[in-house]
Amino acid sequence: MPKISLRNLEKRFGKTVAISGLSCEIQSGELFVVVGPTACGKTTLLRLIAGLLRPDRGEILFDGRRMNEVPPPQRGVRMVFQGQDYALFPHLAIYHERRWSNLSFPLKLRGKTWEAIREQVGKITGRMGIRKELFPRKPGELSEGQKQRVALGKAVVVPPQVLLLDEPLAHLDPPARVKARKELRRLHEELGTTTVYVTHDLAEAFLLADRVAVMQEGHFVQVGTPSDVREHPASSFIADFVRSYEDSLRQAFSS
Ligand SMILES: Nc1ncnc2c1ncn2[C@@H]1O[C@H](COP(=O)(O)OP(=O)(O)OP(=O)(O)O)[C@@H](O)[C@H]1O
Ligand SMILES: [Mg+2]
Repeated sequence: MPKISLRNLEKRFGKTVAISGLSCEIQSGELFVVVGPTACGKTTLLRLIAGLLRPDRGEILFDGRRMNEVPPPQRGVRMVFQGQDYALFPHLAIYHERRWSNLSFPLKLRGKTWEAIREQVGKITGRMGIRKELFPRKPGELSEGQKQRVALGKAVVVPPQVLLLDEPLAHLDPPARVKARKELRRLHEELGTTTVYVTHDLAEAFLLADRVAVMQEGHFVQVGTPSDVREHPASSFIADFVRSYEDSLRQAFSS
């Protein structure tokens, strides 16, 4: 699993500076959580790492190898998008035995047998809590929360080298979210994929992360373990951010 180095990245959209002066090392196999307010550049950062956008300045390296010019399919990166269609195939069922379907697609593409596919899909759907009665449905026939789970399942059914998750639990209700978070952490430990997880929920970041990066106006203002950031906020902005979450943090850590 690659280590990701981000060096002085910059990305502009016309006059909007979405990312500026962003540098960081994300360790091999780390669950790295980026947290920050809306429009601070989180999705843009994931799209840069995935290769869906090119930086205007700076470098992205995987294990020391420059990625800026490497096209997305050759990066070994899988991204679960925020909202909309989640990159699911609208005309295919969630899963159909011995047929191309959303969950069998990535495995069939790699020449797996239908037997092997059944086994792997069974494992992932069990892990992600995707119930069998959803299998015959098309993505348009699922709730947002169900779609997010299927998208996550599809992203890891063939384990990637790097997994990029853009607010993947945003549509779940609080109890389902707590459960999904635990499943996700367990899945991460099993796969050991280098993972960048984006959220605006600080409590979620603290519960999930090996390390948290607090993002503000296009760059990281603090990177550290959850307890580092919680106990030693590096600025008044972060201290206020932490304080606004204190109640839910106390609740989350005591449960
Ligand atoms: N394709 C684009 N064209 C123009 N501006 C863009 C584009 N994509 C993003 N931006 C701008 O870049 C900034 C960062 O956007 P981004 O989507 O990365 O934010 P975010 O942190 O993911 O926000 P949210 O939490 O709301 O999802 C915003 O000001 C946004 O309007
Ligand atoms: Mg976003």
